[in-house]
Amino acid sequence: MSDWSANQYLKFEDERTRPPRDLIAQIPLARAQRVIDLGCGPGNSTELLVARFSEAEVMGLDSSPNMLAQARTRLPNCTFTQADLTTWTPPQRTDLLFANAVFQWVPDHPAVLRRLLESLPAGGVLAVQMPDNTDEPALALMREVASRGPWAKSSSVNHAARDELPRPTTYYDLFGPLSSRLDIWHTIYNHVMSGPEAIVEWFKGSALRPFLSALDPAMGNDFLAAYLDAIKPHYLPRYDGKVLLRFPRLFIVAVR
Ligand SMILES: C[S@@+](CC[C@H](N)C(=O)[O-])C[C@H]1O[C@@H](n2cnc3c(N)ncnc32)[C@H](O)[C@@H]1O
Repeated sequence: MSDWSANQYLKFEDERTRPPRDLIAQIPLARAQRVIDLGCGPGNSTELLVARFSEAEVMGLDSSPNMLAQARTRLPNCTFTQADLTTWTPPQRTDLLFANAVFQWVPDHPAVLRRLLESLPAGGVLAVQMPDNTDEPALALMREVASRGPWAKSSSVNHAARDELPRPTTYYDLFGPLSSRLDIWHTIYNHVMSGPEAIVEWFKGSALRPFLSALDPAMGNDFLAAYLDAIKPHYLPRYDGKVLLRFPRLFIVAVR
């Protein structure tokens, strides 16, 4: 898949940074010495961690060179490392592993998260947020558009959709035996967007990437046009012409 684009991702920085704020608010740590932002992206979530844990060594980790370049410019005093979370292990004496909007991209993420939680010292915290929106029209219609049209025969297009997240009970049974405290909740955001075109722009920075990476640029534009037509009836203008992007997200805070 092509690299992430920090610029595309940050077009909706305010909205995308709200969930990490809400996640940080529930972390039961008064202070920390070592904090690692997993899937730090352009550093927006890392910046929140630096503000909350000003005494800590805050590091960021990501697999994308483009995202890391942006993060290093934004926070020159933090250390940012390129690594793949599927195989990465945390250094000793890590107090907080923070992962906002990344593990939905990691294959077999429940097992990876369990391994990371297991590696934390007593009292260490694993804090995770993932979009739980695969049933929303914006995501379901990516799959529907992929299944018709000239790209329908491409297996990479047809396998581009993200898997549904497991239910909270699955995470509870998996992480509970390793946790002294486990908090799992959903929040549904209703982001105010200027129109359905803005929803397309939003997902070009995230969930549409695997579809577009599998297509040449002309075909990609046709895919986006078909996707826009498909979502329009589901995101009708409100009294002011704007649309609401309903966005459920799953949060997990586990204390080792
Ligand atoms: C949606 S961004 C999240 C950025 C930021 N944490 C935030 O709160 O907005 C997801 C990031 O996860 C990174 N990522 C995806 N899969 C990864 C993996 N296997 N290992 C490390 N980083 C990964 C991507 O490169 C991307 O920067």
